[in-house]
Amino acid sequence: MKICITGANSSVGQNLLNHLANKEGAEVIAGVRSQKAFADLPQAANIKPTTISYEDSESLNTAMAGADCVIHLAGILIESKHSNYASANVAATAAVVAAAQSQNLKHIIFISVVGASPDSNNAYFRSKGAAEQIVAGSGIAATIIRTPILLGPGTAGAWSLLAAAKNPKCKVLGGGHYRMRPLDTDDLSSALTTLGMNPASGVSTHELVGPQSIPYRELIQKTAKMLGKEVEVGSVPVFMAKIGAALTSTLKGGGITPTVIDVITSDEIVETNADAALGLTLSSLDDTLQRIIKAS
Ligand SMILES: NC(=O)c1ccc[n+]([C@@H]2O[C@H](COP(=O)([O-])OP(=O)(O)OC[C@H]3O[C@@H](n4cnc5c(N)ncnc54)[C@H](OP(=O)(O)O)[C@@H]3O)[C@@H](O)[C@H]2O)c1
Repeated sequence: MKICITGANSSVGQNLLNHLANKEGAEVIAGVRSQKAFADLPQAANIKPTTISYEDSESLNTAMAGADCVIHLAGILIESKHSNYASANVAATAAVVAAAQSQNLKHIIFISVVGASPDSNNAYFRSKGAAEQIVAGSGIAATIIRTPILLGPGTAGAWSLLAAAKNPKCKVLGGGHYRMRPLDTDDLSSALTTLGMNPASGVSTHELVGPQSIPYRELIQKTAKMLGKEVEVGSVPVFMAKIGAALTSTLKGGGITPTVIDVITSDEIVETNADAALGLTLSSLDDTLQRIIKAS
C-alpha cells in the first residue's frame, strides 16, 4: 500500500511514521510544508519526505500520485498570525480532498476531534465539523476518527500535563474538574496503520478515546504521584482566563483564545468507543503516563 501522510511532522505524524517505518508492504510519502521539517521525520527506506503546499494543487497531486490512501493529519487548535481554522482546518482539507480525487485515491483517513460539528457554537469544533463534511462528501471511501486529548511523546497535551505535575503547586482552568479520556498516540497510530494498510469502503466516523475517564485535576495528581511528587492543584477562574485570553490573543494575533479555553474545558464524552470496531486493545492510562514520563 502506498500511503501519503499530510502534516507528517506533527506529533501524531512522527509517531505514525515510527509505526510505519520498515513495515512490510508499506510505502510512505511524508508530506510537510518545508524542507526544514524533514529533520523531524523518522528515517527509513520506505519513507519518502516530500514538501507540499496546500495552496499549490500540483504539489499535492505530485505527493499523492500513485497512492492508495491519504492520512490527513495537518490541523491546528491554536491559531496564529499565519495559520487560522479556515486555512489550516478547512481549506487545507478541501485541497487534500481535491488532490485525492484528482489522483483517484481509494481511501481518505481524517483525524478530527471529539465534539466536532459543523453546527457547533465553537469555531474550532465547527471547523473540524466542516472538514469532516468535505471528507465525507468526497465520493471516496473515508474514515473519520474523532480523538480526545492525545498523550504521547511531543504532544501538546503531554507537555502541559508534565509541566503541571512536576511543580509542587499548579493552577489550571476552573480547578481542572472537566473530564478527559486521554488516548495514547501509539494506540491511534496502530489504528491508523491498520486502516491505511487495508482496503475500505463507504464513509465511517469513529470516536476513539482512551480507556479511562478522569478529571484533569486527578490526571495531574496521578502523574505527579508516578513522578514521586505531590502537587496542589489550584484554580484559575474560567471567566477571568477568557478575558485575559481575549485581550492577549487580539494583541498577539493568535494564541490561547476563549474558543481554545472552551475546547480545553469541555468534557470528553463519547457514546461508543471505537476501540472494538477498530480491533484495538487500548493501553492503560498508567502505561501511557509511564511512556510520556520516560520520554520527557
Ligand atoms: N494533539 C491533540 O491532543 C489532538 C487532539 C484532537 C485532534 N488532534 C488533531 O490531530 C492532528 C495532529 O495533531 P498534532 O497535535 O499532532 O499536531 P501538531 O503537532 O500541532 O502539528 C500541526 C501540523 O499541522 C500543520 N499546520 C499548521 N498550520 C497549517 C496550515 N495553515 N495549513 C496546513 N498545515 C498546517 C503543521 O505544519 P507546520 O509544522 O508546517 O506548521 C503540523 O504539521 C491535527 O489535525 C489535530 O487537530 C490533535
